[in-house]
Amino acid sequence: MAAMRMATEVHRRITGDRPMKAEELPSCLLDLGCGTGLATRSWLDQLQASGQPDPDQLLLVDQAAAMVERASALLAERHGAVKGVVLDAFRRDATDGLAAQLPCQGSRLLLSSYALQWSPTPLRVLQQVWAPLLRAGDWLAVAVPDATSFQILRQALVAAELPSHLLELPDPQALIGPPAQRALASQFEWVASGSFANAVPVSSALAYLRHFALIGARPRRSPYSRSQLVRLRRCLDQQLSFGVAELDYHSTWMLLRRL
Ligand SMILES: C[S@@+](CC[C@H](N)C(=O)[O-])C[C@H]1O[C@@H](n2cnc3c(N)ncnc32)[C@H](O)[C@@H]1O
Repeated sequence: MAAMRMATEVHRRITGDRPMKAEELPSCLLDLGCGTGLATRSWLDQLQASGQPDPDQLLLVDQAAAMVERASALLAERHGAVKGVVLDAFRRDATDGLAAQLPCQGSRLLLSSYALQWSPTPLRVLQQVWAPLLRAGDWLAVAVPDATSFQILRQALVAAELPSHLLELPDPQALIGPPAQRALASQFEWVASGSFANAVPVSSALAYLRHFALIGARPRRSPYSRSQLVRLRRCLDQQLSFGVAELDYHSTWMLLRRL
């Protein structure tokens, strides 16, 4: 899972794998596009595994009220100060209200896993919407599925002679390459970044396609007719039988520090 891998990478970079005093660790965690709160739970797991204290406050933000409710319920089981907020995290007029709810004391860690890919302008969101939520020394950690994901499905769509309706995912270079680093340099210190494969094993084309419904990333109505879907499944099963049967996610992540 990308959220877990991101939490591991980020924890290692922030702590340097050494014991840290509570006041050196971020005391407020802000999870933007929290979904079920997986990134926050992964961060708490990292702290727990290294005997470090939890942040004082957890803020779980999502545009879907059902997600905020679910994440808040799951996290309330292990933390006493959880706040859920429903808003569009890509809009400055929405997040301005959020800034006022953040504690003044201590440092902040803004985590966002697998949400920013929904913005057509991810760097603009980082510069104009998320940077203002942070103060000097605060941390920003982001992971997204990148454009190298779902090659197996793309090949099956070509073989089935069907158009792709997949979300256009960010190119890794556009997010973490030198031009992106230059664009963010006036607001952030670039601490670390990278890409990794985080494939999910699947047993069949049906399991591959069903995964999109499970994570809530499938359109309400299929863009394909019944016969097109049968063709796609046949071609996808063929592609899966050629190599490793997996849902081929690739993620790009970055850890930045606010200047
Ligand atoms: C694929 S889920 C990822 C959830 C979780 N962060 C994880 O890593 O498992 C993406 C989440 O981002 C939320 N999301 C997408 N666009 C958003 C926006 N503009 N503002 C707030 N949340 C958003 C969706 O509602 C969804 O819950």
